Amino acid sequence: MDRRHLLQLAAATATTLWLQRSAWSQPKFTSNPFTLGVASGSPTHDSVVLWTRLVVPGGALTEAATVRWEVSRDEAFKDIVKSGQLQALPELAHSVHAEVGGLDPDRWYFYRFFAGDERSPVGRTRTFPAPDALATKLRLAYASCQRWEHGYFSAYRHMLNEQLDAVLFLGDYIYEYPGAKDAVRPVSGGWVITLDDYRRRYELHKSEPELQAMHAACPWIVTWDDHEVQNDYAGLHVGENGPEVKDFPARRAAAYQAFYEHMPLRSSVLTQAVAGLRQGAETRLYGELRFGRLASFYILDDRQYRDLHACTKDGKPGSSSVDVATCPLLADPKRTLLGAQQEAWLDQAFARAGQGWNIIGQQTLFVPRVSPTPDKTIVWNDGWDGYPAARQRLIDSLRRRELRNAVLLGGDVHENWVGHVKADFAEAKSANVAVEFCGTSITSRSGGNDKMAERLARNPHFVFADGERKGYGVCEFTPRRMSTALRVVSDVAKKDAGIETLASFVVEAGAAKIERA
Ligand SMILES: [Fe+2]
Repeated sequence: MDRRHLLQLAAATATTLWLQRSAWSQPKFTSNPFTLGVASGSPTHDSVVLWTRLVVPGGALTEAATVRWEVSRDEAFKDIVKSGQLQALPELAHSVHAEVGGLDPDRWYFYRFFAGDERSPVGRTRTFPAPDALATKLRLAYASCQRWEHGYFSAYRHMLNEQLDAVLFLGDYIYEYPGAKDAVRPVSGGWVITLDDYRRRYELHKSEPELQAMHAACPWIVTWDDHEVQNDYAGLHVGENGPEVKDFPARRAAAYQAFYEHMPLRSSVLTQAVAGLRQGAETRLYGELRFGRLASFYILDDRQYRDLHACTKDGKPGSSSVDVATCPLLADPKRTLLGAQQEAWLDQAFARAGQGWNIIGQQTLFVPRVSPTPDKTIVWNDGWDGYPAARQRLIDSLRRRELRNAVLLGGDVHENWVGHVKADFAEAKSANVAVEFCGTSITSRSGGNDKMAERLARNPHFVFADGERKGYGVCEFTPRRMSTALRVVSDVAKKDAGIETLASFVVEAGAAKIERA
């Protein structure tokens, strides 16, 4: 199907259809089609996106199907405040993205879907406080990297008890691999390449009850990293691993479509990008959200618009460790990670920012992390370390706009790294510009704590790091301070893994200084 047609469908299906009852497509289901659960996301002060997808065993559902939704103030659905219906289309894998507006600010709601005679599980979601409201508390988890073969998603069973207002998911929701050495459990399917492959892989991940339950518990704010498409891809440049795929833009477009089909995203993610269509078709994920006067979110996309990696070993695609002295291209001021348009948008968003917490949600580690090799400056070229001029432009923007209370949350590295963003990293006494909490993974493996002392000594802007434990972070924001707890599971290979706090930190408002709690 051509892209334009897809965009029209997405736009048409996101708004409620007022059809004659006779015009509804009401297939008879032989089993409940809501097996992937429900989700909500992209919240504003008066709206939220409700998501589900109809799946019938054996893919027997080939026609469009009408899905009804209800939003209620109470769990028993006695006080229904909004309802509607829309078409779940085969072209979009029978996914449903109901954009519900006209809701009260700062309020919890319950929602559910109906199709044929079947009913979905009940989800719980909330609106954010009005932009000018003095909100007093925001509790947020940040998470990333859930490789299926590497373990069970038991972290989410514990996240369910954290009394969160929202989950910030920062990439690698799926992985495209056919399996792993010493896998905890097998994946179904081989290399993930076609639209169908991507859909099957999301179905696999969403079959985990703990993940479904967390989606049903509060709204999610999501971005992606590389594995939603392919390891280490960069913009329209192919990444590495797996069979050669001739038409990478087509693969990327399929992967982006499958991401949209499985996430609680607004249809504008697809339709806003029409003007920006190039050979690979933009999918506009980046954007801004506001939680009253307490916090603003800036959600970034550092994959779709980035330049190719600099100096990857032997001229291969993908990433590698690079000796800065032998790679002058690294310092090229023209190189970009966010793309010119997103950079300009972010700078403008900072200019409008309020006095509350400014939460920058992005994929990877922001501050430098140099290898502990003596006499050499070796960095990994896939993260911000591979795009130092772009990183400095963002730091300069933070300073020029005098952004208060800037907090970077990231993922990708499968390790917990906590540190300060400095105005100038070459100068130890340089001012702190922001704080950064880069998360570990839900399951994906990492290198461990060998040489951690040397790594920390070589990178003194960090206050804490751990290369072993898996889990998520919880941040609580109040007008006076931000507290972060690094929550870690006992063992990803065990379904009944326990949880504990690895370390806690406090940042006082206005200080840009991380204190161990
Ligand atoms: Fe990852």
